[in-house]
Amino acid sequence: MIVLLQPDADVAAVSAALQGLGLWTRPMVGGSPVVIEIESHSAAVTEEQLLAVAGVAQVRSRVSPHPRVDAMARTFELPIAGGTAVTLGLDTVLIAGPCAVESQETISQTAALVAHAGGRLLRGGAFKPRTSPYSFAGSGIAALRWLADAARQHGLGVVTEAMSELHVDAVAEVADMIQIGSRNMQNFALLAAVGKKAKPVLLKRGRGADTEEWLMAGEHLLAHGAPWVLFCERGVAGLAGETRNTLDLAAVALLRHAHSLAVAVDPSHGTGRRDLVVPMAKAGVAAGACVVLVEVHPEPAKAKSDGPQALLPAQLKELGDYFGLPPVVPANTALPPYTSRYPEFYKKSVPERRQAVIANLGLSLEAQKYLRSGQLDLAIADKMSENVISTFALPMGLGLNFRINGRDYLVPMVVEEPSVVAAASNAARMVRLAGGFRGDATASVMTAQVQFDHVANAAQAAQIIRNRSDEVMAAANGAIPRMVARGGGCIDIDVRVLTEDDGLMVLHLYVDVGDAMGANVVDTVAEKVAPLVQTWIGGTVGLRILSNLPMRRLVHVECDVGAEVVGGAALADGIARASRFAQVDPFRAATHNKGILNGIDAVAVALGQDWRAVEAGAHAYAGLGSDYRPLATWTRTVTGLRGSMELPLAIGTVGGSTQAHPGVRTAMEIVKVDSARELSVVMAAVGLASNLAALRALAGEGIQHGHMKLHARKSDVFETQPGHK
Ligand code: MEV
Repeated sequence: MIVLLQPDADVAAVSAALQGLGLWTRPMVGGSPVVIEIESHSAAVTEEQLLAVAGVAQVRSRVSPHPRVDAMARTFELPIAGGTAVTLGLDTVLIAGPCAVESQETISQTAALVAHAGGRLLRGGAFKPRTSPYSFAGSGIAALRWLADAARQHGLGVVTEAMSELHVDAVAEVADMIQIGSRNMQNFALLAAVGKKAKPVLLKRGRGADTEEWLMAGEHLLAHGAPWVLFCERGVAGLAGETRNTLDLAAVALLRHAHSLAVAVDPSHGTGRRDLVVPMAKAGVAAGACVVLVEVHPEPAKAKSDGPQALLPAQLKELGDYFGLPPVVPANTALPPYTSRYPEFYKKSVPERRQAVIANLGLSLEAQKYLRSGQLDLAIADKMSENVISTFALPMGLGLNFRINGRDYLVPMVVEEPSVVAAASNAARMVRLAGGFRGDATASVMTAQVQFDHVANAAQAAQIIRNRSDEVMAAANGAIPRMVARGGGCIDIDVRVLTEDDGLMVLHLYVDVGDAMGANVVDTVAEKVAPLVQTWIGGTVGLRILSNLPMRRLVHVECDVGAEVVGGAALADGIARASRFAQVDPFRAATHNKGILNGIDAVAVALGQDWRAVEAGAHAYAGLGSDYRPLATWTRTVTGLRGSMELPLAIGTVGGSTQAHPGVRTAMEIVKVDSARELSVVMAAVGLASNLAALRALAGEGIQHGHMKLHARKSDVFETQPGHK
């Protein structure tokens, strides 16, 4: 690449500015205009950046012989027949399978191994180019059907090679991605025939091809209609005698980083040796490959071709685990019915629990991946908060046994305190025996407050606002057209004179916020309405903000539980007396309510809710009367106990962290609620269960017994940490 300088340009200054962009430069002084040669690979700089340098008149670069390749998007959403689409070009994708499709049985076995290891596409040759005419050359057309059936059965895509123009139609019929093999990289008639099929192509590099020839082969495919090409480095002829080929990782890095292309790496052919495949796969990804293509065989020793380079099943799984790939669950598998009952769940290992949930719920690949890593991407974290320096993890557990309004719910809970999840699950099991929780919530109506101060005649002003309530609501709804279009909006107003002598009054706007938590919506409304109302009543506008005591957003839950189930009549009496204690003593009520919020907050954190708002609302509601009261009460019935609880819950299932945080999206997939109202009933049920568990322990053997057993487990962990005293 060269830049041509303006006639009066200061050559040294221009060179310095270009070098400042990280470019290697060589001025060719002498002629006119002065030309500076720049090594375009020395830094990624756009033409605009070069033209912006003072003194640069023109930029000239070589006309690329492969413009379609240059313009190709780096990512591609690959549709999978009968499965979930795979995004190529971003996170590591594993493609695996045998060298050749040998029989229906082996390919089916292999597909299961590939899916288990987290592979997304099954590879395997039906037609094999072999150096020796005496070697196994594939099972032909029949093998294509075996391959496709095995892949579909396990939710995998198919990539297989078209070796000659004669087979292109048959291959295109079953392949989600057509492979061009190394030996055919410059078979231009084949490239044209495959391109015309308008399917994405995996293009292996020729053993003796340089990178320009490889890119030009891609250009052929694109020019004939292929929508996208995945360049696959599979090793070139090198000097190493002990490996089959030389895996050219510099070429991988070049295509990925200098040409911005998606690249696959095939360490099986690149090395020809099973013992080198895994390390070279990792190296390939480090160099920039986004796809790893490997050969695997259920019994490599019996493979009809390329057995020495086929991975053992356990090695494939190890590779998938290394890249953090979740096992693939076929989309069309009939799932067992959703249940919240997992007897002896606590006895299983963490991966076993995860697998049980994945199998039961049919979680998305994104959710599976999150469950395995528990990680929040720093880029997302940086957008969620400020001055971010890291992320912070807490355990996510599952509240089990919940049955609410006749339906099972598995409830994700994030909490640092031992025994909260176990206690809620245990209480839910007891309640379940008497039919589970019953509950309902009001519509999701939030309250916005507008403060007016120094209003001359506050009582009269209040009346003016009431008389013009339709106009107030119209102005409010004008500020939130999208919420109104979704069926929400301002449904009522209220005016209260707080102190007449200094003209302090407040306007309440009640806004149905649907499935949102709604803070932004009501704050917008309050800010919009305030100046309008002020023109009617004078005074000054003060605060315009939601109230965290949303009295029209209440949830009520109740349940029955048998006396025998909680531990006998005496214990049931004790629980009822504990409830009575909280009703008459605010000191106890505060602790009683803390126990309820143990459960509610844990769900709120897992589901990305504003738990400070939840806490504020709950405590304010408990303190509404003359005394601070318990949110939940327990009374004796003929058969046992009835628990009942009511509180405001401002929570949402759309917006906020629900969309940004992968852990929250995962938790939402697990809890499977359709609306914010439904979620608020689930959260309240967990609160009531937590309360029952606490009172049962307190009225019985005391809280320390169970609590300490779980604390002991925690100490075991801490005592193994370095530096712990
Ligand atoms: C501890 O986190 C919660 C309890 O104190 C609640 C209660 O006393 O009801 C056990």
